[in-house]
Amino acid sequence: MLQPTYPIRTARLALRPFKRGDLAALHAIHSHPDVTRHLGWAPPGNRAESARLLDTKIAQSELAEPGQALALGVELITSRELIGDLSLRWYAEDKDSGEILVLFHPRHHGRGYAAEATTELLRLAFDSFGLERVHGYCDPGNIASASLMEGLGLRREPSARHDGELAYAMSAGEWKRG
Ligand SMILES: CC(C)(COP(=O)(O)OP(=O)(O)OC[C@H]1O[C@@H](n2cnc3c(N)ncnc32)[C@H](O)[C@@H]1OP(=O)(O)O)[C@@H](O)C(=O)NCCC(=O)NCCS
Repeated sequence: MLQPTYPIRTARLALRPFKRGDLAALHAIHSHPDVTRHLGWAPPGNRAESARLLDTKIAQSELAEPGQALALGVELITSRELIGDLSLRWYAEDKDSGEILVLFHPRHHGRGYAAEATTELLRLAFDSFGLERVHGYCDPGNIASASLMEGLGLRREPSARHDGELAYAMSAGEWKRG
């Protein structure tokens, strides 16, 4: 396994582990109604809950063994503003596979930032961590998320988890074929 060097830079973005100063931006993302309506869990009710979420994310700074998650914040290079939250969970029960979750602040939707950042998350999953398969899930009304995953080349497949959920996956072979 190759441990990446942070920040990971793209044309417009820098991906790096979370840090203490991210509380306000993380809270703004996780409590925004256009984000929370698509998620299957309750949003943080206040800054104290977001602070606990941030503690968790700060601790998720590396992926060393199955069952762990990697959390990366996404900054705009020009302003250093934190606009996105990426996660890669390495399944404990299926050590060749993992799952991505991508959240961006709605002020920055629709500009290709999510696609740019998630491409790097897939690169980490396959090229650094050697996963064989990456999954992504969203609810059927989440057109932006479905479009993001399809645009990145993940394939729709039957969901093994919940009826009605949209399930997507990509294999390492598909990633390498581009
Ligand atoms: C899902 C999410 C990260 C996508 O972010 P985004 O800013 O729309 O993504 P991008 O600008 O990179 O666009 C990605 C693709 O989706 C398309 N897209 C985005 N919104 C769309 C919409 N409402 N309808 C159709 N297509 C859409 C874009 O055109 C682009 O397609 P392309 O690559 O063919 O040009 C963002 O909507 C978000 O944070 N949503 C709330 C949290 C969430 O639901 N996360 C997924 C969890 S299951």
